Amino acid sequence: MILKKNNAKFITLEGIDGAGKSTHLNWLAERLRSQGKNVLVTREPGGTPLGEALRELLLHQAMNLETEALLMFAARREHLDKVIIPALREGTWVISDRFTDASFAYQGGGRGLDESKLKILEQWVQQDLQPDLTLLFDVTLEVSRQRLSANASLDRFEQEKQDFFQRVREAYLKRAAQFPERIRVIDSGRTLNEIQVDLEDIVSSI
Ligand code: TMP
Repeated sequence: MILKKNNAKFITLEGIDGAGKSTHLNWLAERLRSQGKNVLVTREPGGTPLGEALRELLLHQAMNLETEALLMFAARREHLDKVIIPALREGTWVISDRFTDASFAYQGGGRGLDESKLKILEQWVQQDLQPDLTLLFDVTLEVSRQRLSANASLDRFEQEKQDFFQRVREAYLKRAAQFPERIRVIDSGRTLNEIQVDLEDIVSSI
């Protein structure tokens, strides 16, 4: 159990590629800053020099499924050790664009890696540390595809087929049903304003 100063919170954003979470990330950070909080925005895979180097490999280099999962968690260990835990200890709020739910959704749901292996890695890398709040931006595959097709160069995950994203989406929704206290599902197919009304509500409740 890590001691968080000033009741700092660890918030993660999740969703299939093209769910639009990045648009809301900066809005959320600014909203919290306007309430006087110190906020650090970071991402996974990435967030540290080593993590960003691993991200390059993970997004562009073909590899074995288990190697992929191990590298995701290796980057996460570094991220927790160098960035997330120190920030929470000094009272800074942390917003991470993806975290462990993404491994359960992509490597577990999408690629079919046995959940028990992911649970071992989760326990090893983060012990009892979990996000205080996870916002799951949920969209249909049609909306996600439309948003991705506007993007010229797609990475290794974004190039996956519809059924891969269908499995990822289902795995995310299954996680949300398993952890209803932590994971809030946001219908991301709506307008920006409608989504921000929801986010405003959530922010004021934490
Ligand atoms: P991003 O495009 O949202 O920055 O995320 C990069 C990709 O990495 C995205 O397609 C999802 C994938 N990913 C995993 O497969 N497993 C993980 O644990 C994480 C954090 C990301």
